[in-house]
Amino acid sequence: MINFSAGPAMLPDAVREQIATDWGQAVRDGYGIAEISHRGSEFLAIKARCEQTLRVLLGLRDHHRVLFMPGGANSQFVLLPMNFGPGRYVLAGHWGEKALAEARKLEPDCACWMRAAADGRLHADGKQDVQKQSETQSFAYTHITSNETIHGIQMRALPALLRHGAPLVADMSSDIGSYPVDYDQFGLVYAGAQKNLGIAGLTLVIARDDFLQQARTELPTMFSYREFAASDSLFNTPSTFAWYVTDLVLEWMQQQGGVMALAAINQHKAETLYQEIDGSEFWVNSVAPELRSWMNVPFRCADSELEPLFLQQAADAGMLGLKGHRIVGGMRASIYNAMPLASVQQLARFMREFERNHG
Ligand SMILES: Cc1ncc(COP(=O)(O)O)c(C=O)c1O
Repeated sequence: MINFSAGPAMLPDAVREQIATDWGQAVRDGYGIAEISHRGSEFLAIKARCEQTLRVLLGLRDHHRVLFMPGGANSQFVLLPMNFGPGRYVLAGHWGEKALAEARKLEPDCACWMRAAADGRLHADGKQDVQKQSETQSFAYTHITSNETIHGIQMRALPALLRHGAPLVADMSSDIGSYPVDYDQFGLVYAGAQKNLGIAGLTLVIARDDFLQQARTELPTMFSYREFAASDSLFNTPSTFAWYVTDLVLEWMQQQGGVMALAAINQHKAETLYQEIDGSEFWVNSVAPELRSWMNVPFRCADSELEPLFLQQAADAGMLGLKGHRIVGGMRASIYNAMPLASVQQLARFMREFERNHG
């Protein structure tokens, strides 16, 4: 069985096996990781190692604070304006739109600044000119979604325009740790763990100290980045099990050779599918090549009536989770770090065979 789900997504085999071993051990010993105190030495050792491995893998500096928060990326949509005030948003798909809509509930002055279209163009929203808008209003941050999970649009290279002005904040929920990133470019980055870093229940936040200093004070502790940092992410009882899984995933990433090595494989995996799609009129993906995601590859049949059959036959062949998000329909292969190249090649072969039978 191959799990192409967008998230929660597959874990590396080695991690799944380690969890089973540890759980079995726990059963024999009488207690396990999900049953120990989050303030006890065993858990604190996992927590410390987890942060240290993450720092090495992502190349974080001393001025980066690493927070492990609850609530998923959806909570971050709201925490951002709550802590920093109104931000401007670069939109390329559903998640950016949702981040803005949620932020506006709290800070109505949050605004769409630009749209990154699937054809690869960045353009101003509405009537206002991009430059004029940025001059006349001051925003606390510029928010981007580095990888739009549903639309398969990824901004691996930041356009120069985005690097100036308000500090950048990125939702990296679906591409954190999948290619090298200079985290100094961002005031803050957040990501739910359930795609590239483990299982649901843990949200990673990386914040630069100077940006953190700009956060409002006097907020309730659970909603305050400053206070959460001050409590070393242990203000309340965290999801200890999810944290433990992330520690295993990070260790696995190191064993694969780190983020550079994973990026090379991720590019290879993605190109394997895009070549299959571009190689015939049978398949369609209309995202500009430079914005095509290495993590989520959406595709359609030119004859969309064939799609239910494709999904059914793929499932019969053991390839699950390929149904596209209901907003866009079609198919989507989510191929995060844990997805082996061989499994992607198997999907590509299956697509070719399906085309041969139905093209
Ligand atoms: C890019 C992106 N942002 C945000 C979310 C929402 O994340 P959560 O369910 O952790 O709140 C998702 C979920 O798929 C996502 O892909």
